[in-house]
Amino acid sequence: MTVKLTVLASGRGSNFGAILDAIERGELDARVTALISDQPDAPALARAQAAGIPTLVQSCRKADKPAFAQAVTEQVQQSGSDLIILAGFMRLLSADFVERHAGRILNIHPSLLPSFKGLDAPAQAVEAGVKISGCTVHVVTADMDAGPIIAQAAVPVQEGDTADTLAARILVEEHRLFPAAIETYSRQLLVGA
Ligand code: GRF
Repeated sequence: MTVKLTVLASGRGSNFGAILDAIERGELDARVTALISDQPDAPALARAQAAGIPTLVQSCRKADKPAFAQAVTEQVQQSGSDLIILAGFMRLLSADFVERHAGRILNIHPSLLPSFKGLDAPAQAVEAGVKISGCTVHVVTADMDAGPIIAQAAVPVQEGDTADTLAARILVEEHRLFPAAIETYSRQLLVGA
């Protein structure tokens, strides 16, 4: 059964692109019902439009969080989406929203959680001097970057790495890991439904 995804992205959208590519290649049995962004100039929006995927822009700043939650919930209900995918979505979602969609929101984070939660995870890894970092796909809960881990990939930190060079090496793994983790998680979800 094809899993239906609602994707939230704030920026570049390379993970969103990797999800579309995996669907195209037949590696992920999914359909993206909408791309929702809190940033009107997010390149992810153009990518969705080019692929014929409906888009929606809605601010998720503090005062707008209820409106954002309502817009996403309506889209999920109308489209019958099974999962909400955070592909570089840079705002915290309200606890109410997370509760309402419990177990159905997945995020990718550029570190081996529980290390280096929050912003600038590759910079945190370089600063800490760790020799291995990576990326994590996890279920979103009300606590930031703390939900159950679904999949991880390790990436070496090399001599002379900056936050940018490490982030670029991690990103290559993100593009492989996220679609694969969505596929695995959705199979379990749909079988259990
Ligand atoms: C990725 O590094 C992801 O792990 C983090 O935000 C970044 C988004 O990149 N959550 P992109 O927009 O998918 O290119």
